[in-house]
Amino acid sequence: MMKENEEIKRICKEVIARIRPDEEEKRQVKAVADLIIAKINKKALEMGIEAHAISVGSTARNTWISGEADIDIFIMFPAEMSEEDLKEKGLALAKSISDRYEERYASHPYIHAYFYDAEGRTEHEADLVPCFSVKDASLLKSAVDRTPFHNEYVTKRIPGLEEEVLLVKQFLKSAGIYGSEQRRKGFSGYLCELLVLRYSSFAELLRNASEWQYGERIEIEGGGKYKGEDALIVIDPVDPNRNVAAAVSPDSFCRLIDAARDFLACPDASFFAMEKKKEMSRAEFVKCVEERGTEFVMVLFEAPDVVEDILFPQLRKAEASVTNLIERNGFTVYRSDVSVEGDKAFLMFELLVWNLPQVKKHVGPPVTSKYHSEQFKSKYKPFSFRKRIENGRYVVEVARKYTDAVELLKNELRSCSLGKQVSESIDRGYEVLRNEEIRFFKGVGYFFRAYFGFG
Ligand code: UTP
Ligand code: MN
Ligand code: MN
Repeated sequence: MMKENEEIKRICKEVIARIRPDEEEKRQVKAVADLIIAKINKKALEMGIEAHAISVGSTARNTWISGEADIDIFIMFPAEMSEEDLKEKGLALAKSISDRYEERYASHPYIHAYFYDAEGRTEHEADLVPCFSVKDASLLKSAVDRTPFHNEYVTKRIPGLEEEVLLVKQFLKSAGIYGSEQRRKGFSGYLCELLVLRYSSFAELLRNASEWQYGERIEIEGGGKYKGEDALIVIDPVDPNRNVAAAVSPDSFCRLIDAARDFLACPDASFFAMEKKKEMSRAEFVKCVEERGTEFVMVLFEAPDVVEDILFPQLRKAEASVTNLIERNGFTVYRSDVSVEGDKAFLMFELLVWNLPQVKKHVGPPVTSKYHSEQFKSKYKPFSFRKRIENGRYVVEVARKYTDAVELLKNELRSCSLGKQVSESIDRGYEVLRNEEIRFFKGVGYFFRAYFGFG
């Protein structure tokens, strides 16, 4: 036991040295954050807008991974202001001080901007988010009004534990479950910080996680009122009605449990892998498909111009309704997934059955129900169909409309419910590709490496 703890300590030390920002990086990030805040406050004064900026998120708490800083700046507006005003003035203010930016929209509008440091050498990314300055986190008017309270809560308590947070973040990144976005459905930065506050170290978190059961409930402050039934429940210390872990999917929850057990059994630095893994090549993919004997079908189209948090739920909805279409037509889906890589989005289906014979059995009513039998017999006229009785019911054989799943998708995809923007994009055009036809544009190789479980 003692020896194992020493081994974990040694690995953690080595990993921290790699992922902890050095003094120069810290200085630069702080300087850029201060510069943005000063610009916003000055501009607000000039424009006669009653607002001020604050630094939040991991760069305000020294919990960012070296080289991956995004500077989170919140622009606080009076709570009495209307939502339209907040949006209009907040975005105008943010844009006015940014050289280069994109307007982003999830549940809440904000600006993602790029700033050079004072020496003009390194470019930094920043999120500029307008919010209401409410008295209490439970009185929120917009989805992001809790953030300043989170910031205050963590900033007061995290000093001394920053390195533990870095270890947790890197461990989760390596396991592919860091980030609460719809794409990952994993653990947010704030959730990592709360888990460290609860268990006081990375290793202690893993020891506990290795024993977690569904519905695991963590209340740092007590008094939680949240009643939902998520895999993991971490009551927000600044709002007892909210589960900070609501976005963690049951599979992400289980992946942490599994990785925690593996690491504790066999501690190794590879659990904190940094390098973006190599893309799988087309040749490797084709070999995999041959070995499995299944059929891969990709539905490929232009990624609609909406944020991923809106796009991914639509893609998953499309995945479910296309799966339904495939199975309704007699084919069998073994597994499916969706992704966005660059400016392309795709649905991927792995099929056990993709070819069917022409003949299709159509079961009619029981012979004993006279009325329905007559209807059935007049619909399927005696000479055009082979009719027989099986287990007391009429049975006819009809010609299958689609004997190939790819033909089905080429012709009937539009009849599926696909989500607004996905549907619009598919109306503009799409391709259905099978096996070696699947195009290996950038990112597809990562997708398949993860799909086949090659890490
Ligand atoms: P981040 O996603 O940047 O997380 O959001 P983080 O804690 O800084 O962690 P890393 O190190 O960057 O990965 C920062 C804070 O801003 C809020 C989040 O809720 C979080 O508390 N935020 C950010 C929003 O609420 N909405 C946004 O659009 C952006
Ligand atoms: Mn951040
Ligand atoms: Mn951010």
